[in-house]
Amino acid sequence: MTDSTLPCRLVVLISGRGSNMQAIAGHIEQAGLNGRIQVVISNKADAPGLDWAQRRGLATEVVPHREFATREAFDDALARVIDRYQPDYVLLAGFMRILTTGFVQRYAGKLVNIHPSLLPSFPGLNTHQQALDAGVQFHGCSVHFVTPVLDHGPIIAQSLVPVLQGDDAQTLAGRVLATEHQVYTQAVQWLVEGRVALQPDGRVHVSGVAQRGFYFPA
Ligand code: GAR
Repeated sequence: MTDSTLPCRLVVLISGRGSNMQAIAGHIEQAGLNGRIQVVISNKADAPGLDWAQRRGLATEVVPHREFATREAFDDALARVIDRYQPDYVLLAGFMRILTTGFVQRYAGKLVNIHPSLLPSFPGLNTHQQALDAGVQFHGCSVHFVTPVLDHGPIIAQSLVPVLQGDDAQTLAGRVLATEHQVYTQAVQWLVEGRVALQPDGRVHVSGVAQRGFYFPA
């Protein structure tokens, strides 16, 4: 953000239920952040999160990926919609499309994702089952800047969640999701406050914040 008086312009991309989007919208309001969700964009017309956004009075758009022959064509169409809203940040909140390098580079330093694992462990899908299969005792989520490598990039914040005896992918997912809402909203607050910098060494610095890992004991 260059002018701290103007609200930070946020574009949120979803594919499904949008609980992270809801948490972010709620936090902006409750905490009185100087940020605004300009639009919620989905690649699926039937994403439940779109209904929620519309009921909330947020602008919504659909860019249906199935209507495009290639990833490049879809990403170009998506970028054209995004650019109409001139975002400071594009927040991926359960947006389940692999993005092209060109798209990621276009929004370098502006594209933020949440992933349900402690990256760099367990990129891709079924992260909770991956964690259980690996036998790790701690799991969590990561909010990170997006790079062309899938589920990879400079980490802004993470949650740490113990894996409990008897956990299955569903119980673990539920506990991690609750932490996602807290960690993503906190990261968005830092972004909106203009505290977050990408350093030349490829790591993140958040001014005035000593600890960006959050432990959620069971
Ligand atoms: C969240 O768990 C998010 O971390 C995950 O999808 C879910 C979306 O839930 N994202 C990814 O797996 C991206 N690689 P939500 O729609 O309720 O926010």
